[in-house]
Amino acid sequence: MVLVISPTQIRRIIEHWQRSGTAYSDLADAIRIAVIDGRIPLGARIPAERVLSSELEISRNTVTTAYRLLRETGYLESRQGAGSFVTIPPDKSRQARSFSWQAASADGDIDFTTATLSAPEPMLVEATWEAAARLGRHTRTAGYDMVGIPALREALADRMTRQGLPTTPDQIMVTAGAQHAWHLLLQHLSRPHDRILLDSPTYPAVLDSIRALRRRTVPVGMSATGWDVDLLDKAIRQTKPAMAYLMPDFHNPTGAVMPRYIRTAIADAARISGTFLVIDETLRDLSLDDTALPAPMSTYGAPNWAITIGSLSKTCWGGLRLGWLRAAPSVISALVGLRGSTDAGNPIITQLIACMLLEKFDELVSQRTAMLTKNRQGLAEALEKHLPGCSFTMPAGGLSLWVDLGARVSSRLALAAPQHGVQLLAGPRFGGEGTLENRTRLPFVHDPATAEEGVRRIAAALRDITPQPAASMVWGTGVMAS
Ligand SMILES: Cc1ncc(COP(=O)(O)O)c(C=O)c1O
Repeated sequence: MVLVISPTQIRRIIEHWQRSGTAYSDLADAIRIAVIDGRIPLGARIPAERVLSSELEISRNTVTTAYRLLRETGYLESRQGAGSFVTIPPDKSRQARSFSWQAASADGDIDFTTATLSAPEPMLVEATWEAAARLGRHTRTAGYDMVGIPALREALADRMTRQGLPTTPDQIMVTAGAQHAWHLLLQHLSRPHDRILLDSPTYPAVLDSIRALRRRTVPVGMSATGWDVDLLDKAIRQTKPAMAYLMPDFHNPTGAVMPRYIRTAIADAARISGTFLVIDETLRDLSLDDTALPAPMSTYGAPNWAITIGSLSKTCWGGLRLGWLRAAPSVISALVGLRGSTDAGNPIITQLIACMLLEKFDELVSQRTAMLTKNRQGLAEALEKHLPGCSFTMPAGGLSLWVDLGARVSSRLALAAPQHGVQLLAGPRFGGEGTLENRTRLPFVHDPATAEEGVRRIAAALRDITPQPAASMVWGTGVMAS
């Protein structure tokens, strides 16, 4: 089925498209950038020229010329009687992939598109040997399973219990990552066109799955310091969303931690509105300043109302593709049924590796956080030195800085960056249509020297797209937070 982008949707996606150039090329640029960073999904049908010109209140000629330009450059395919569909030229597909936060692979490029760490060595290799030694007793089975092996479910339940959320193994389902867990829950707990509340900014893949499953988003804006409790409370009570997706512990991308009183208020509002809460704790263990976190969000409100999801991707290694969810056993049974239509379950060998890693988890986490603390400092200093016009709030944990560029240049910057050997994601990738153009996310996953070189390259890309010679005049004087 073809995804149809309505005139109002496209207007919101390319909001503020008019710059100082000719109208048709500004319009073509805005659509091209939105295609590359994934806000207009590949293959989607965009409005007819006449319809878009009336929506944007511009001449039809401008839209016709913009569409022609997009066709000539390989971003649009028009079929007689069927409409115009967005596409991507083959030589740009790597860039588009990296904008959609898959690994950028050009040699020597510094990749800020993914907030992922390389495997923990030698711990991963040791865990793999130990897992291989224990595989014997599983070789007579299929070698994969839908819900998770008992030893892993027990280890995860124990860890949650120790963190203050009493959990039994039958409340745990092992998944192929936290994103997989979210997707299953979205399918099970909502229907097409239902409302799903989430923060703006948020984790981009969550937005993708909401769009792919044709639910509607209710984005609630966050400030530089975190959540606005009144706004959230009102949004939940007034829109009564079927589900809300929240990251209360080291939110991606802002790094914010949700205070207790907001957790309580949201749990109350969700109970009254019949909204299921999905709490993503993927980053909860990455505390860099010994911040004492409030109790896990699922301890607030009615039992089983909030479903927790988590993953080994950030603390251990994304290559394990191992995540989980914590829910009532009845929900887990339903999810296991649903899962069968798309995959056969997690390999037992990676589950055994996960068991081994969980035995040394505290040691692993302290190695990770020590490294991330140095990286965070390195990136912050590089920004101060090479991009003094930007600003950010230093997060107490997580993996990224949410950088205010001081100007609405994020998409153009992301487009120019690869020419300077650096890849980053445009701010709008983290929010709804057309928003967050003044922001970019910079993960502190690189060592300080690499991060500094990356930021130097970003500064060079920024000079390319900023007309005035003195960047500081354009950017004003943002203040670095400590
Ligand atoms: C908050 C959050 N949740 C989920 C994920 C995805 O995790 P997984 O690799 O386990 O699917 C990420 C990865 O960036 C993330 O930042």
